[in-house]
Amino acid sequence: MTDHSGVGFLGMANADVDPSSRPSSARIYDALLGGNHNFAADREAAKRLLTVIPGAGDMARANRAFLSRAVEFLLERGVRQFLDVGSGIPTVGNVHEIAQRREPGARVVYVDIDPVAVAHSNDILKDNPRAAAVQADMRFPEAILDHPAVRDLLDLDRPIGLLLVAMLHFVPDDDAYTAVERLRAALPAGSYVVISHGVSDTPADAASEQVEALYRRTDVSAAHGRTRSEILRFFGNAVLVPPGLVWVHEWPAGGDGDPRGMAVVAGVAQIDP
Ligand SMILES: C[S@@+](CC[C@H](N)C(=O)[O-])C[C@H]1O[C@@H](n2cnc3c(N)ncnc32)[C@H](O)[C@@H]1O
Repeated sequence: MTDHSGVGFLGMANADVDPSSRPSSARIYDALLGGNHNFAADREAAKRLLTVIPGAGDMARANRAFLSRAVEFLLERGVRQFLDVGSGIPTVGNVHEIAQRREPGARVVYVDIDPVAVAHSNDILKDNPRAAAVQADMRFPEAILDHPAVRDLLDLDRPIGLLLVAMLHFVPDDDAYTAVERLRAALPAGSYVVISHGVSDTPADAASEQVEALYRRTDVSAAHGRTRSEILRFFGNAVLVPPGLVWVHEWPAGGDGDPRGMAVVAGVAQIDP
């Protein structure tokens, strides 16, 4: 039988894997941010990540701050709907909190491959009729676009903010480019694509082999930075808003932090402005 959901394959392959025994990228990130939705195996992996990339915690926090700024920016530009793919475990400054504080009618669908992240998200969203979390693998974009929660909550005829924040470096090339292109193609003119991504050719990237080995033990099939031009390809024909693709803490205007310790870049682009 063909399974188009994406998570079915993962579920079948790992049906007998206890989530607490194997680290996941979502829970490692939660541990880096100081959250408490993680297991001992995740904390151990986060500790090892910090030994190979000492700035990993700072980068996670800078990335999270970028996400907030980008959502605020989209709200200012009139966007009222968000599709947050690779949304992670709910933590301070969730997209629906930022969006609905300013625009109570704003709608948000979170998508993540990690069942623990989705369960926590749905738990905090149970009384929120304008937000939902869906378990899906972004390598199967149709499963996201056809999902009842996406169909019910998002109006695909009105601008949407597609958030792909700190997640594409976990998706191999063959799948990542086609999946992002499919998601972009489903969005109407005026929508935005928000991306942050680990960049190669940085001091932190010197540890890339160790990082890949560490993530090989998790739920994701890759963990590698891309060059700036490879990252720019994800935006397709969408038009980057100033200042373009920059260090994550520098978007949209220079911020604190030492770029030498940085390995994440970020940008926001509009589809058919
Ligand atoms: C580093 S976290 C980023 C969380 C959030 N976007 C942020 O920036 O704060 C990366 C997330 O991507 C998710 N992820 C990785 N591969 C995925 C895939 N193929 N489909 C959906 N989610 C995926 C992980 O489970 C994890 O929650």
